[in-house]
Amino acid sequence: MNTVVSGIRSTGNLHLGNYFGAIKNFVQMQNDNNCFFFIADWHSLTTHPTPADLHLNVKQVLAEYLACGIDPEKATIYVQSDVPEIPELYLLMNMNAYLGELERTTSFKDKARKSPENVNAGLLTYPVLMAVDILIHKAEYVPVGKDQEQNLEMARKFAKRFNNTYGEETFPIPKSYSFTGESVKIPGLDGSGKMGKSEGNAIGLVEDPKDIRKKVMKAVSDSGPTEMNQEKPEVIQNLFSLMDAVSTKDTYDFFNDKYNNCEVRYGDLKKQLAEDIINFTAPIRERFLDISQDEAYLRKVTQQGAEQARESAAKTLAEVRRLFGFRKF
Ligand code: TYM
Repeated sequence: MNTVVSGIRSTGNLHLGNYFGAIKNFVQMQNDNNCFFFIADWHSLTTHPTPADLHLNVKQVLAEYLACGIDPEKATIYVQSDVPEIPELYLLMNMNAYLGELERTTSFKDKARKSPENVNAGLLTYPVLMAVDILIHKAEYVPVGKDQEQNLEMARKFAKRFNNTYGEETFPIPKSYSFTGESVKIPGLDGSGKMGKSEGNAIGLVEDPKDIRKKVMKAVSDSGPTEMNQEKPEVIQNLFSLMDAVSTKDTYDFFNDKYNNCEVRYGDLKKQLAEDIINFTAPIRERFLDISQDEAYLRKVTQQGAEQARESAAKTLAEVRRLFGFRKF
């Protein structure tokens, strides 16, 4: 049995990118692995949520995890901030993480460019905290989307560095995982490369069907192919990628053939895509609306998850403390 760890930041409702990049794997992997899936609320602090938003966002992601089929009887589901062993390991790992390598990470550079007024230390050491999330349970596999590859590479670097420095195979070197064999990137509908919460181009897993229809019908397209079997421009490929994720193979092939024969009507394609997204998300939305009302159940899940996560984390932390030389007198 392998150990699997992954988490999602609590920064708003989850979207199709989160589902196909991460959660779909969580649901599959929980059946035959030792899984830890958490809500990364400490990671959400880099953008300074209000206390009310912080709490609401955690609750929302938790209810969405459960609505998607992550099962607390199969996987440990917990809130990151319920595990105080994490910040202690984070402090220790920060001593062997260097300014140069942290400043060079693409996500740090991107965020520093977009919000120059908020280049805080938490943003700089974000990859260290993420590495700790993974290493504290000695994970072998980390199911994440393509955008997290560099962070995972940093986690591998920190794990190897620790193992080399302290002369023991303390941490397995974590690998990314995706059911598709290679990491997934779900595109946005605005012609941009990636669907994302902060990109404002996301379709939520529990979004109202009316809003889904509106967003899909407004998706960027072009005036259509002019030659048979023409290569698809990025904006069109994006629509087909979404269709590939949510529609049946027959539907995908039908519109793909239409495209290849220069007969595609984007209005029809978008209508079908919107209905397929709605059919796909409807059961998740329904369960979410129920579960998010059930405060007692949510409390029980997080309490049980915190206990299990802390037990696992405490074992690793005790080992690391011993390796650093912290001993009782
Ligand atoms: P976050 O919260 O940005 O995203 C959560 C997960 O969703 C995936 N994802 C996507 N996959 C495919 N296409 C997309 N358009 C798309 N958008 C998001 C992400 O790749 C991710 O798997 N740093 C992490 C959270 C984290 C974490 C960890 C993950 C903290 N500690 C430890 C794994 C292990 C993040 O910000 O993900």
